[in-house]
Amino acid sequence: MGTKIEVMISEEEIAKRVLELAEVINNDYRGKALKIICVLTGGFIFMADLAKRLDLDVKMDFIDLSSYASGKESSGSVKIVRDLKTDITGEHVLVIEDIVDTGRSYNRLLTHMSTLNPASFKLCTLLDKPSRRDSELVHLRADYIGFEIENEFVVGYGLDFDQSYRNLPFIGRMVNTDE
Ligand code: IMP
Ligand code: MG
Repeated sequence: MGTKIEVMISEEEIAKRVLELAEVINNDYRGKALKIICVLTGGFIFMADLAKRLDLDVKMDFIDLSSYASGKESSGSVKIVRDLKTDITGEHVLVIEDIVDTGRSYNRLLTHMSTLNPASFKLCTLLDKPSRRDSELVHLRADYIGFEIENEFVVGYGLDFDQSYRNLPFIGRMVNTDE
């Protein structure tokens, strides 16, 4: 069973878009302190690259959610596997996600964060697959979106297939090479 990864969004395109997003965020939060929260594991590269471009008083935290048991299908319920280490009460919070797919993780984050009383809550995602949103979650749209993509499974730049390919510097699609 052969698989190869085909480039869908190049390293250069990602870098350019990350810079654009950072400029918008810098403007929106000018003069404010910002807590950026990385959703593990997929968000780690995006968060690192974006954080370097933020010209604000930035603090960081991490949260780990489980949604995909393994492979390409979501398990349905989203659990908080590792919670925040720091208090976010009264803080401006920007959650950094790799991708918004069914919207279940985003929804779980919204409910969880609202109980923690931040001053504001926004979500920034590198990728958005709006066509995949659960019917009751179609209203969910991230505040900052890197790229909107079709209903296609992607890997790289933090995103995995069975925990592999996260280290690829680009976003790629998996192509079956048998036939
Ligand atoms: P949700 O379905 O919106 O809750 O997304 C849950 C998580 O599934 C995302 O944060 C990703 O980690 C993962 N995911 C969704 N689509 C893809 C994909 O195309 N490739 C790799 N991971 C994905
Ligand atoms: Mg994720």
